[in-house]
Amino acid sequence: MKKERIAVAYSGGLDTSVIVKWLQEKYNAEIITVTGNLGQKKELIGVKEKALKTGAKKAYVQDLRKEFVEEYIYPALKAGALYEYNYPMATAIGRPLLAKSLVEVAKKEGCTAVAHGCTGKGNDQVRFEVAVAALAPELKVLAPVREWEFKSREEEIAYCEKHGIPVSATKKNPYSIDENLWGTAIECGVLEDPMVEPPADAYQRTVPPNLAPDEPTRVMIEFKDGVPIGLNGKKMSGVQLIDHLNDIGGANGVGRLDLVENRLVGIKSREVYEAPAATILHFAHRELERLVLDKDTSHFKAKLAADYADMIYNGLWFTPLRVAMDAFVNETQKVVSGFVKVKLYKGNIDIAGRTSPSSLYDTKLATYTEEDSFDHKASIGFIKIYGLPVKTFYSVNKQLLKKKKK
Ligand code: ARG
Repeated sequence: MKKERIAVAYSGGLDTSVIVKWLQEKYNAEIITVTGNLGQKKELIGVKEKALKTGAKKAYVQDLRKEFVEEYIYPALKAGALYEYNYPMATAIGRPLLAKSLVEVAKKEGCTAVAHGCTGKGNDQVRFEVAVAALAPELKVLAPVREWEFKSREEEIAYCEKHGIPVSATKKNPYSIDENLWGTAIECGVLEDPMVEPPADAYQRTVPPNLAPDEPTRVMIEFKDGVPIGLNGKKMSGVQLIDHLNDIGGANGVGRLDLVENRLVGIKSREVYEAPAATILHFAHRELERLVLDKDTSHFKAKLAADYADMIYNGLWFTPLRVAMDAFVNETQKVVSGFVKVKLYKGNIDIAGRTSPSSLYDTKLATYTEEDSFDHKASIGFIKIYGLPVKTFYSVNKQLLKKKKK
């Protein structure tokens, strides 16, 4: 009889390594591993060999970086999507793409199920499973970590040793780390106490601000239709540009975040993030929009940004609402082209200049010199009518303006 096949989203870490063997035993199935390259670097070294050694029938490593940047990161950047005001969502934006690549391999390989290594108390299980439900509802989803017998890392390591699964590369790290091009998320260990300042070793890709260079670093970013296309006068691909900004920002201690956030499953969690490129690009993009968007569009877009971020965070990427929101955002980005100069200095980021062919800044209107072309007298009638409702209200309700006696 032909064996059942299961596609496993595989990072090469301890949990997903145990999953390969565990599913094989429990379901007597053939395991196909799928590892998505979202720019996580370290984790990818030797991952394919490791999967095969662990017993996978086939091991896919998919380079998803270009798609990640163009189809996931940039839409979120254009929308100004920051969860709970600050978090640029590297992890959250990556999950739907990993799910998509998992589903594609599962279909190609004739799998009946897919599996992931997310726990039962996080956001990622939701992001994975809602994405699979949208893209391939016929596939079963297995989440071994939610149901297996292991209660600790030590038990998992013992299982690995028993089955000859290489664990050397999964050397104990005091933190749980998720990394990709758009940022790094660091939790667990001493970080679980929100009153504890993150120790120096928690940070993976940024220098401590006090050790950053004593001179500011200036970066000129070119945008076209809301998307960055060049750095310091040099055009480059999205992947290159983000890589580069991560290095420059990281060297200046830019992009560190320490947040207590609301998970979808109701838990408050404390997470430390490093996202140099995301921080710089969101900042620069917002500064350019200040110059080129009309007031109403800009204010409306800021409200949409919060909803857009919630959708990403809450696993609702593959939804008609997100697609419709993108249509709105893309319309607004037709004028978001130009140059933004930023200054990075010891963990800080400042605006140093901005210019655009679509700039709405009109010196003749803004100036206080004799060049001034604004019709000051027109303001008289404007204010008279603009203030008419409150004038009427308070002339009828004078008592409401009186100071209360204590
Ligand atoms: N809290 C972030 C999110 O839900 C990141 C989750 C993964 N974090 C980690 N350190 N492994 O998007």
